[in-house]
Amino acid sequence: MVNAVLLGVQWGDEGKGKVVDLLTERADAVVRFQGGHNAGHTLVIEGVKTVLHLIPSGAMREGIECLIGNGVVVDLQHLIREIDSLKKRDIDITERLMISLGCPLILPYHVVLDRVRDEARGKSAIGTTGRGIGPCYEDKVARRGLRAADLLDEKVFSDKLEQVMEYHNFMISNYYHSESVDYQNTLEVMLQAREAVLPLIGDVSARLNALCQSGKSIIFEGAQGMMLDIDHGTYPYVTSSNTVSAAASCGSGIGLGQVGNVVGVIKAYTTRVGSGPFPTESLDSYGMHLARQGNEFGATTGRPRRCGWLDIAALRRAVQVCGINALCMTKLDVLDGLDKVRLCIGYQCRGEQIDLPPYGAENLEQCEPIYEEMPGWDIPTAGLRNYAEIPEPALAYLDRVAELLERPVTIISTGAGRDETIILQHPLEAG
Ligand code: GDP
Ligand code: IMO
Ligand code: MG
Repeated sequence: MVNAVLLGVQWGDEGKGKVVDLLTERADAVVRFQGGHNAGHTLVIEGVKTVLHLIPSGAMREGIECLIGNGVVVDLQHLIREIDSLKKRDIDITERLMISLGCPLILPYHVVLDRVRDEARGKSAIGTTGRGIGPCYEDKVARRGLRAADLLDEKVFSDKLEQVMEYHNFMISNYYHSESVDYQNTLEVMLQAREAVLPLIGDVSARLNALCQSGKSIIFEGAQGMMLDIDHGTYPYVTSSNTVSAAASCGSGIGLGQVGNVVGVIKAYTTRVGSGPFPTESLDSYGMHLARQGNEFGATTGRPRRCGWLDIAALRRAVQVCGINALCMTKLDVLDGLDKVRLCIGYQCRGEQIDLPPYGAENLEQCEPIYEEMPGWDIPTAGLRNYAEIPEPALAYLDRVAELLERPVTIISTGAGRDETIILQHPLEAG
């Protein structure tokens, strides 16, 4: 049995969903371990597009167990909608979906708080997805949140909800001067959802450990990306969870040693949705090429993604923090047709040359990228499935990235479709 964790190691939207879906060919289960429906993971199978937000990207293959670990914040209404939209396409996920008893629940007041807080930040707004993610994690850490386990007893649930809503409504109306959220209404909505999800709630940690014991292969599917990590990312312009590899263990309830291979998924360039420093952002014709060819619009909010060159300095941090042993490069095809490509190999920061991003957004704002330039390529890589057909300059680009990061590129994605991929070493194979 070999397991693997697949992590985005930039600012999200690296193509994790596509790659996880493809790799499930050899897996038995896929588990999400952090984030929530702020994620948008796109799968394109035989030309049909599916965007998953909360349900793991094992959904499209029959027989693959889909587990939502305790590290994931769950919006029950959203979950039900996502289950229903799969059902409409004859995919009944409920037979193989389990939600951890430990999942914190996103409640309607979290969504209100997310909005009013980001509005109150004015010019320094984070640009969150507005889905209540941050406020839900806050309630978890403050030890006042409601969890999936609370749904088991209606009375426990309604009492806790009343208490926590009293607290938050006070803040919403007296501090943010916004309209408070109605308790009875919230309770009704939640109890209705409870009926639908009760059969799905279970002990994900125990299930995962049982799967490991019986020699099954598990993929841990990261959401967001390393540079959005609450501790190691561009704080405060980050999400509210740990997105690093270690989160796969504590966010699902399995020992660190069982997480297996750590694959860092990188886009051939960089994108970012929302505010915050982005040293390699390119506002010129190259940036426009990336946005257009890469069709860079958020899968969750539809916002245009900011685009720029690949940032090796930022990736160095990710390799260190996540203990990455292999890289998957997606969207290589988007660079097709450029006369040159650039790699940011370090920064000039306050008169010093540095090769890792400094901690804190204010410090990263001060960094100017130091670029290395390489020739582009005219022969398209789009849709290639064969390593030998990759044009020389594109191979040189891949090799240089591997050299700079001291990690092999073992998967190359050349298109959105499931099969538009070159796998040199499968992460679920013993290496
Ligand atoms: P995720 O959040 O990491 O799963 O990534 P998203 O789904 O948000 O964004 C990735 C986008 O790129 C989606 O529209 C994918 O269909 C698309 N995509 C993934 N891999 C490739 C690739 O190799 N080439 C191209 N052109 N598109 C890709
Ligand atoms: P996937 O899994 C890209 C960004 C938001 C915002 C910041 C905080 O599809 O890669 P939040 O709602 O999490 O409090 O917002 O994080 N963000 C993402 N950006 N891809 C994602 O997920 C993201 N999830 C959150 O845009 O800047
Ligand atoms: Mg996405």
